[in-house]
Amino acid sequence: MTHVVTEACVRCRYTDCVEDCPVDCFHLGPTFVVIDPEICIDCGLCVAACPVGAIVHADLLPDGQKDYLRLNADFAKRWPRITRRQPELPDADQWRAITDKRRWLED
Ligand code: F3S
Repeated sequence: MTHVVTEACVRCRYTDCVEDCPVDCFHLGPTFVVIDPEICIDCGLCVAACPVGAIVHADLLPDGQKDYLRLNADFAKRWPRITRRQPELPDADQWRAITDKRRWLED
């Protein structure tokens, strides 16, 4: 299985998770990051690194977030791989507490 980046990441994109990944499985999009499920080794180190709790194991995806498994796999094929932390989005802190952010997931 794999871990999955979920909606809480949208418009925040802090990328602390990237620094803790031992296999460099993260890919960077305009407002979101994804995990390549074919590279992820399920170590779970990224879970605690995310300040907004956006990363969960695929088996634990809550209802309403299950399609993020497919979104992570699809975007990982097209978005560039990153191996270092990037600057968070300029208004990231304003988006931390917002839960309905799907419409701002840009490709
Ligand atoms: Fe997103 Fe959290 Fe990583 S906000 S970029 S999953 S640290």
